[in-house]
Amino acid sequence: MAVLLKVAVFVGICTALVAVLVAWYTKENFDPETVRGKKVVICGASTGIGEELAYQYAKLGAQLLLVARREEALKKVVVRCGELGAQQANYVVADLSSLEAAKHLAAETNKLFDGPDVLILNHFMPFYEIWNQNSNLDNVPRYFAVNTISYINIATLLLPGLQKTNGSIVVVSSLVGVVPVPRTAPYCGNKHALHGFFDTLRQDLALQGTQRDLHNTVCPGLYRHKECS
Ligand SMILES: NC(=O)c1ccc[n+]([C@@H]2O[C@H](COP(=O)([O-])OP(=O)(O)OC[C@H]3O[C@@H](n4cnc5c(N)ncnc54)[C@H](OP(=O)(O)O)[C@@H]3O)[C@@H](O)[C@H]2O)c1
Repeated sequence: MAVLLKVAVFVGICTALVAVLVAWYTKENFDPETVRGKKVVICGASTGIGEELAYQYAKLGAQLLLVARREEALKKVVVRCGELGAQQANYVVADLSSLEAAKHLAAETNKLFDGPDVLILNHFMPFYEIWNQNSNLDNVPRYFAVNTISYINIATLLLPGLQKTNGSIVVVSSLVGVVPVPRTAPYCGNKHALHGFFDTLRQDLALQGTQRDLHNTVCPGLYRHKECS
């Protein structure tokens, strides 16, 4: 019993030390003024994480270009961004699964901004099912088109603008982009491919003497949508 108590105290002290270290390491050093006026493109901004990112950027006074398929939902997000303080908020309606749509988005971005400061690739087509011999192979190309290929298309087409501003690409990945998780096979494949592509892009850009830190891949934990909470 005494040994157990000692172990519990030891674990408690270690946990507290780790918590202090994490708090110190992640302490606030962000200057909100650095975001004011920044030109930000958010793909998949009509709902969920993309919508919330739009509101956070709006509060910091950014200029926004929001992209998704549902125009009515995008219009509402644009209005709310204006209320929250965005310097400007516009939208592009696009099904990003095609190369043509990516080209259209790049053209609209270039019309509005002389190079974006931040490109957030966040849109996705969900998949949460067991994969087996009965799985629908007809849908596989669409998962890759929306969740992977469109990210490559959009990032590549916007590279010149991003290099002009020394801008950033944020690739919204997932835990499933790093480790396999049951019931996510195509989605897991989509996200793993993003890590492979964008980590290599960083190296290719470095080899060409252009930006080293052009992109960050973020892996959110589980996010509860407003309608679920
Ligand atoms: N939610 C989580 O717990 C969680 C956890 C880990 C990672 N993530 C990642 O976070 C990102 C956002 O997830 P979320 O849960 O916020 O998703 P969500 O609420 O379902 O939003 C997805 C967004 O993508 C857009 N979209 C879907 N298909 C599109 C297409 N073909 N063309 C253009 N836009 C399209 C949707 O808008 P329209 O329907 O209007 O087109 C919507 O704005 C995803 O990359 C996901 O993998 C989420």
